[in-house]
Amino acid sequence: MELQISKVSKAFKNNEQPHQVLKDLSFTIDEGAFVTLLGPSGCGKTTLLNIIGGFLKATKGEVRLNGTSVNRPGPERGFVFQDYALFPWLTVKENILYPLKQQKWSATERAKRLRQLLELAHMEGKENLYPSQISGGMKQRTAVIRALAPMPKVLLMDEPLGALDQHLRHRLQEELEAIWIADRTTVLMVTHDVDEAVFLSDRVIVMSSQHGRIAGDITIDLPRPRGRDRGSETYQDYKDRLTRLVYSSRTFRENQNEEVEN
Ligand SMILES: Nc1ncnc2c1ncn2[C@@H]1O[C@H](COP(=O)(O)OP(=O)(O)OP(=O)(O)O)[C@@H](O)[C@H]1O
Ligand SMILES: [Mg+2]
Repeated sequence: MELQISKVSKAFKNNEQPHQVLKDLSFTIDEGAFVTLLGPSGCGKTTLLNIIGGFLKATKGEVRLNGTSVNRPGPERGFVFQDYALFPWLTVKENILYPLKQQKWSATERAKRLRQLLELAHMEGKENLYPSQISGGMKQRTAVIRALAPMPKVLLMDEPLGALDQHLRHRLQEELEAIWIADRTTVLMVTHDVDEAVFLSDRVIVMSSQHGRIAGDITIDLPRPRGRDRGSETYQDYKDRLTRLVYSSRTFRENQNEEVEN
């Protein structure tokens, strides 16, 4: 599905003081593209993802899926939260099947999808354990495949691979890339890791601390799968470019005299 963010603004009221987080943010993600959001802490990445997911209302503007405006959660959008939010009282298997039960998939279909996902994420044999019994990396994989289970047309992920050691992170990036190559769902992912952004994305959007305004929008033109590309010169050039952009996004100023909207 094509995902369109159209002039989205969001202000929170903190102690009656309006706090403008996003202002007039617009961009479009083509169907089947993998797009990453980078930006300084607090620039509004999670806020934007929550608006797209339908968990939060924009103060102004619209989110459209294939041209239709959406403002509440829907099964066509999968979500991986920043803290991965697994249900601790359900096993890995029950966590993954939860959205499928809600959507009334038949028992046969559920069993088939479960096998497929466990295999994709290399989680076979772990399905009867509880979240507290598996490692952090497995929790993150479980959260990703739970979001993928109902075959969403759009997958929204908020730092899905945060807090992992580099080796595991690289492996999970490769798994995520393989899953995405197989499914070709439209992805919008948040990360703080420039290397991860280059590895996974067709396009990287850099948000600034100035109301989340876009400080850069770069197309990553590298062949896939990218496992062997990490060391290449072009790969490194992309990383350097993005690192500079992220650095400048902290002091990005498009218009110094902006007023807060109410
Ligand atoms: N429910 C809320 N009420 C008030 N202010 C909020 C709320 N949610 C977020 N904010 C504020 O909005 C701003 C953006 O927060 P957000 O969580 O979107 O940042 P982020 O870009 O995801 O940061 P990080 O990289 O640290 O996760 C912050 O200043 C935050 O304090
Ligand atoms: Mg966040």
